[in-house]
Amino acid sequence: MWSLARALLFLIPAEEAHGVGKVLMRMLARFIPAPRKIQNNPIGVAAGFDKNAELLDVLPKFGFGHAEIGTVTPKPQGGNPRPRLFRNKEDRTLFNRMGFNNLGAGIISDRVRKIRPRLPEGFKVGINLGKNKDTPDALAAEDYAKAAHPFLDTADYFVINVSSPNTPGLRALQTPEALLPILNRVRSEIQTSGRTIPLWVKLAPELTGPDLRQLIETLDRGGASGFILTNTQGGVYIDEGQELTGGWSGQNLTSLSRQRLEEVRTYTSLPLISVGGIMTPEEAVRRLRAGASEIQLYTGFVYGGPFLIRNILKAVRKPH
Ligand SMILES: Cc1cc2nc3c(=O)[nH]c(=O)nc-3n(C[C@H](O)[C@H](O)[C@H](O)COP(=O)(O)O)c2cc1C
Repeated sequence: MWSLARALLFLIPAEEAHGVGKVLMRMLARFIPAPRKIQNNPIGVAAGFDKNAELLDVLPKFGFGHAEIGTVTPKPQGGNPRPRLFRNKEDRTLFNRMGFNNLGAGIISDRVRKIRPRLPEGFKVGINLGKNKDTPDALAAEDYAKAAHPFLDTADYFVINVSSPNTPGLRALQTPEALLPILNRVRSEIQTSGRTIPLWVKLAPELTGPDLRQLIETLDRGGASGFILTNTQGGVYIDEGQELTGGWSGQNLTSLSRQRLEEVRTYTSLPLISVGGIMTPEEAVRRLRAGASEIQLYTGFVYGGPFLIRNILKAVRKPH
């Protein structure tokens, strides 16, 4: 069934297929009972898959234990012009240069607030935070706090995303000097709520060695709750002779993302969520054994479909 659906979806352009895929998931979900409680499920939907919380209520039915909504920016924005999502079937990769298209923190938080009470017990809703494209880097911290504000009553965790390759200058914020003020600003925003909401940081796969170590150790001391490793790998895609810059995800990231997890695991005891190129149950098990507390999928779900999630769940629950 999934192979047939995928073959048909792969006949149309990638972003349109994502739209049709969402409609199909919602239709299919009517025939799948909702779990009453999420237990022992370390698999989540990576950020970018459900940017606007359109599918939040059906994701638990497909076997996910958490969903990372967003990236959410304070104001709505349209993102880059289309086409901005491409697939390379042979390599099992995706290339995107979406540019944080989303409906904005106000609308998305209203949706999450409405859906939240219907979600199974134990299902976690993460909110991935970003800055608007037209906000200068010097004012970035304020944007992250503004994006977080309307979710203070609903988020189970927040993520500071400074690792998308598609917002000019964003990755330059991956330094202790730039990131610590953002972390502190969002943390003080969280404190106004009186709730304890973990605050994670998501990083790019290119960051490695002493730079990465210094950043992680500074943020660890600065009170980060954990790290999400990794975002997409920056690169180019040739579309009808035109060179587009963006990020690659899927199989190209499998070993790179695993290496970052192994590297960072050697010097921090904070929890790590591993994401990037998890395309098989074996790789999922490998990440958890390498010290990830949870894993996330985007491209693997596009290629492998709902059965991949079921199979990963079986594999990770098997005693080994
Ligand atoms: C189309 C697309 C859009 C994405 N949008 C976001 C985003 O808005 N914020 C973010 O932090 N990551 C975003 N990502 C990155 C994913 O969350 C994930 O880190 C990356 O794709 C690697 O995982 P994968 O190989 O399982 O896809 C996006 C990825 C894709 C393919």
